[in-house]
Amino acid sequence: MWVEQALAHPAELLIDHANCEKKAASTALNLMFRYVDKPELLQKMSRLAREELRHFEQVTAIMQRRGIAYRGLSASHYAQRLRQHVRTTEPGRLVDTLIIGAFIEARSCERFACLAPHLDEELGDFYRSLLKSEARHYRDYLTLARQYADAPIEDRIAEFAVIEGQAMIEDDSEFRFHSGTVDGSAKLA
Ligand SMILES: [Fe+2]
Ligand SMILES: [Fe+2]
Repeated sequence: MWVEQALAHPAELLIDHANCEKKAASTALNLMFRYVDKPELLQKMSRLAREELRHFEQVTAIMQRRGIAYRGLSASHYAQRLRQHVRTTEPGRLVDTLIIGAFIEARSCERFACLAPHLDEELGDFYRSLLKSEARHYRDYLTLARQYADAPIEDRIAEFAVIEGQAMIEDDSEFRFHSGTVDGSAKLA
């Protein structure tokens, strides 16, 4: 089960988590470069990128205090498995990217919530604090997706729910933050 795996790999957990925060900031910045004509997107993504970088600083500070060296760790295939379904024409490309962002944030929330009760006080408090901001990021992504879509997006969200569930359970060879199920089911709460 995922929680046991996470607890058995404390260094990989924090390193992969740090990588995820960095990647989240980078994804938000990429959207800001690609969609300069969308003011709400620019505001929300700018704030989001700052928060993800702040999270990155917090994780790496904890790593330093614990003597965990930051080393290269291959990315999990999870996000890549989602991104290969992004449509190539607009506004589908933007809408899909935002829906994927929402799913990744929601999945992160699930992981923080499951792990927090099993961690020491410092890490547990940190993960509980992240839960709030990542839950807001999830909502921001969905709000933006609805705003910029040219039609209702519920069907597309349902399609990505299936894709995401599959992306998570397809095994990575090593422990990664978003890979594997926490309770044997692939459904997001
Ligand atoms: Fe974050
Ligand atoms: Fe986030």
